[in-house]
Order: sequence, then structure tokens, then C-alpha cells
Amino acid sequence: MFSAKNIILTGFMGCGKTTVGRALAEELGRCFIDTDQLIVQRKGLSVAEIFARHGEDFFRVIERQLAAELAQEKELVIATGGKMMLDLANADLLRKSGIILCLTASAEEILQRVATEGKPQRPLLGESPSLEKIEQLLQQRYGGYAAFPQIATDRKRPEEIVCRIVEMVKSIEKRQQS
Ligand code: S3P
Repeated sequence: MFSAKNIILTGFMGCGKTTVGRALAEELGRCFIDTDQLIVQRKGLSVAEIFARHGEDFFRVIERQLAAELAQEKELVIATGGKMMLDLANADLLRKSGIILCLTASAEEILQRVATEGKPQRPLLGESPSLEKIEQLLQQRYGGYAAFPQIATDRKRPEEIVCRIVEMVKSIEKRQQS
């Protein structure tokens, strides 16, 4: 149905990259990679532990190494950590291997999701995430995420978002081929 290009999901924490990415990979019969999970597996530490013991810069270095590594692969669905594609070098690398799409959600919906998800892995939002913190980070990152085609996820089920991604990838590929 598609070319062998990777499909890479970016977007703020809590926008559904992991859930949607996994469902998309299943739908397309592709392997699914979640960069946070891969880092956790390889380092034997949670993301929060990596931040606490080694600092955020160290985590970003690992993300850069991973971007270079995954850019050599094909036919993957990749859910990236929330800031990984905001690094221009990372985005350039992975753009060569595939199509990068950005999932978005309102600050209110993000707060609701991260509060109920119980993912112990978001050191930047702290122990009890607040709307103010989410809005502040969203504001800082708005321009970065705007570089990618966007898919709104508020009040949508993962299957609906998967359908939308499939449509978008088809139309992007058609445009690139013509
Ligand atoms: C981060 C997002 C997290 C994880 C780390 C930093 C960010 O991934 O990479 O906590 O800076 O946005 P998710 O977007 O999967 O939560």
C-alpha cells in the first residue's frame, strides 16, 4: 500500500504517540519502535532515572544517537519522545528515512491524559503535572511542532487517528511522486 518509508510520530507528551503508533503499526503490519522505551531498555533505567542521575543533556545525546540509527531503517512506525524531533539535526536525519507527522491535543486534554495514564516517565512535568506547566512548554515548542503536518487528537479514538494518518501518508506520498 505504501512505500517502505518509516512513519515517524512527534508531538507533545500525552498526545498519543505510543498508543496510536502501536495501533498504526498493527494496522500496517509493521514493526513498532518507541524511542523512550528503547532507551529505557538499553540503559536499564527509566527516563526519570536517566534525567535524575545523568541529566537531560545526556538523554538528548542518546536521542541523537538513536535518530542516526533509526534513519538507517525502513518500514517502521516510530513514536519519538516529545522533544526528539524538535532538534533540527534529528528531524533532518529521520525525514530522509520517512514521513514525520505531529499529533496535537489541547493543554486540557493533555493534562487529563497524563494525569490518568500513570506513565512514570515524564520528569519535565514533575510529580503532579499542572495546566500552567503544560501551557508554558506548549508555548515554547509551538513553532517547532508547526514544522510538521499536524493531526488533532482531542476527543478522537486511536482508530480514528490511525485512519487519518493513513490518509495523510497516502496523500503526502502521492504528492511526492508527482
Ligand atoms: C519528553 C517527552 C517524553 C520523554 C522525556 C522528555 C519531552 O516522551 O522523552 O520525558 O521533552 O517532551 P513522551 O512524549 O513519549 O512522553
